[in-house]
Amino acid sequence: MVLKDNIPYHVAIIMDGNGRWAVEKGLPRKEGHRHGVETVRSVVRNSSELGIKALTLFAFSTENWRRPVGEINYLMGLPEIYFKSELPELMRNNVKVNLLGSKEKLPRKVQKTIDEGREATKNNTGMILNFALNYGARTEIIRAVNRLIVDAKEGKISGAVNEAAFEKYLYTASLPDPDLLIRTSGELRISNFLLWQLAYSELWFTDVYWPDFSKRHLLNAVYDYQQRKRRFGKV
Ligand code: FPP
Repeated sequence: MVLKDNIPYHVAIIMDGNGRWAVEKGLPRKEGHRHGVETVRSVVRNSSELGIKALTLFAFSTENWRRPVGEINYLMGLPEIYFKSELPELMRNNVKVNLLGSKEKLPRKVQKTIDEGREATKNNTGMILNFALNYGARTEIIRAVNRLIVDAKEGKISGAVNEAAFEKYLYTASLPDPDLLIRTSGELRISNFLLWQLAYSELWFTDVYWPDFSKRHLLNAVYDYQQRKRRFGKV
């Protein structure tokens, strides 16, 4: 059983394996994504119940635009499907929604859905739910550098920039780094996700495809996390 007093504050998840889940069942890939949304619903509910304070889900990367246009369109319809049915539960559970990633390239309807979700939940004080959409860590870091240069030119920065000052320019500004990163589907990669923020995160991988990721798997991940000795470079 997980220990109630050592719950990871921030959990990040690379939700992988929707396509393979579907193909192995003889279904179109989009069926995998549709079931993936069901897993999003349950993982949000279970994380919030467990006392996790921030949950970051990698939903669409800057590299995912290379997929077939039909699949991209399907994926871009998912936020609307999710928020339409889930907003009342997010409100009941006091969850606050946020976006990590660049909004500009997202279709208007996705921008609108995310804006409405953020607006509706902005005063909630429970778990923060970050959707990483059109997100890439290298793009995030370059964007931060460029924003920093602008501020420097405007005289808003004096002297050398340290880590704490730099972090304020990232999408995750003011959010503690993930304590635990989960990746499903057996892939052992970070895939350009939160490269700065994952520096000291505990990593947990499972062969389970995202549509099959259940409360039991989340509890296993948290339990394993609780057995780790986090030293942050110390002895
Ligand atoms: C990776 O599986 C999954 C994605 C690229 C999309 C993940 C999105 C969701 C689970 C839904 C997001 C929900 C909301 C509300 C935004 P894959 O297609 O790469 O699987 P494969 O590696 O087996 O092909």
